[in-house]
Amino acid sequence: MKYQSQKIAYWFFAVCMLLFSLQLVYGFIMGFAHMGLDVLHQWIPFNVARAVHTNLLVMWLLSGFMGAAYYIIPEEADREILSVKWAYVQLIAFVLVGVTAIIGFHFQWWEGRKFLEIPRPLDYLVVVDVLLFIGLIGGTIWKGKRYTTTSLVLFFGLLTAALLYLPGMIPTDHQTHDSYWRWWVVHLWVEGVWELIMGAILSFLLIKLTGVDREVIEKWLYIIVGFTFLSGILGTGHHYYYIGTPKYWLIIGGVFGALEPIAFLGMAIYAIAMAKKGGRNPDNKVAMLWTIGCAVMSFVGAGFLGFAHTLPQVNMYTHGTLVTAMHGHLAFWGAYACLVLGIITYAMPHLTGRKLQDSNSNIFAFWVSNIGMVAMTVAFGVAGIAQVYLERKVGLDFLIVQKEIEVHFLGLVLAAALFTMGILAFVWNFIRFGKPQGKMGA
Ligand code: HEM
Ligand code: HEM
Ligand SMILES: [Fe+2]
Repeated sequence: MKYQSQKIAYWFFAVCMLLFSLQLVYGFIMGFAHMGLDVLHQWIPFNVARAVHTNLLVMWLLSGFMGAAYYIIPEEADREILSVKWAYVQLIAFVLVGVTAIIGFHFQWWEGRKFLEIPRPLDYLVVVDVLLFIGLIGGTIWKGKRYTTTSLVLFFGLLTAALLYLPGMIPTDHQTHDSYWRWWVVHLWVEGVWELIMGAILSFLLIKLTGVDREVIEKWLYIIVGFTFLSGILGTGHHYYYIGTPKYWLIIGGVFGALEPIAFLGMAIYAIAMAKKGGRNPDNKVAMLWTIGCAVMSFVGAGFLGFAHTLPQVNMYTHGTLVTAMHGHLAFWGAYACLVLGIITYAMPHLTGRKLQDSNSNIFAFWVSNIGMVAMTVAFGVAGIAQVYLERKVGLDFLIVQKEIEVHFLGLVLAAALFTMGILAFVWNFIRFGKPQGKMGA
């Protein structure tokens, strides 16, 4: 670690650990509810648990991206963060808004739009907070000694992610218009600008872990950015098939949606090729595992399982079923959760001065969480395919089908227990690292 202000990242990562753990609790509440054991229904009905589960996910991933930026940007720009004090204000405000939203959900204070449930007054606070974050990161790059491709791609990914939050706030009382704009946020985040954040963080990790020349690694970054925009922007059409939008979206969404896996395939080849080219033994083996794991699992979860339901002929049957949940879990896990866990694993020894990165609990965490998540994906997939056949082909009622597939959720809960053991090991190792030592600087 070159700069004292990079230590801010630690607190963002600690927030990740806390919110991630809480996210899993709500996952189990839903898993049991799906098994027919909806014992908490009176206090935490399924829709509340679902909104909390997904919003906590987005919150801890954003907290991870912000921590990653506060860690990476000083090193890339060769200077301290503009203001450590304001970075803490930004973190505290972010947590306060998030926690208020999560508590509010339990009292039905929300917008009821999947992934964008945060009530409108809080949306404005999110915007202010993110502007402060972008200002701090942008200002640091601006005043820095050098501009690298990695830092610029990371910055533009974060900036465009912030800007794309705004279409989700366009007021409308029409269901189709509402869905139309909602996807500008949800789709263009995960299949657009978040991929830039992913490419940039992977690039930073590969530069540090493989020792391959920055020029070689950053050249790949351009190609990935190109493929992402080429397919991802019009790929939004794969959400416009049957929601009341014009027919031409069937063709546009079908073609460009099908091209989207290429960017993820590119990312997987890039990471593996660089790791091979580097050839040396990284001093943080587990961070290398997460880096390669991220690139490979995102291709499987987002690319392969995304392709599985992107064509309009398939999506007509699978839309909004557990097939979507199957893809949603492995895609978010592979691309963004593994990415954040990877940068945390890389940064922790530098932040705290302790060398616990290759400990047994960290190796256990990587393998057990990944095997657990693959098993969860299989459980969701089996339940989803059964649901599609019974509900959409045979024509049985939604609730009758839900009863039929309860048995598959025993499998889900068992797989989730395995997954959770891995995550607990990760959190335990994080705690063992302890807090950063010494002064903060800047
Ligand atoms: C890391 C990248 C990705 C993540 C995190 C992700 C996650 C998700 C999530 C959470 C949903 C449900 C959204 C909602 O209903 O509000 C979804 C839906 C969908 N995703 Fe992805 N996805 C990714 C990449 C992809 C790719 C590359 C493709 C295509 C090849 C794809 C195809 C789809 C389709 C067609 C749907 C709509 C499913 C439906 O109609 O119910 N996704 N994705
Ligand atoms: C203890 C582990 C977990 C369990 C038991 C669990 C369970 C569930 C359940 C039952 C649902 C609702 C499906 C439905 O609508 O019927 C759900 C939704 C969701 N979960 Fe999890 N989950 C867990 C961990 C995770 C993790 C680690 C991630 C991300 C990396 C994640 C991402 C999501 C997403 C994106 C959705 C919404 C999917 C959609 O839009 O269809 N979950 N989860
Ligand atoms: Fe999409």
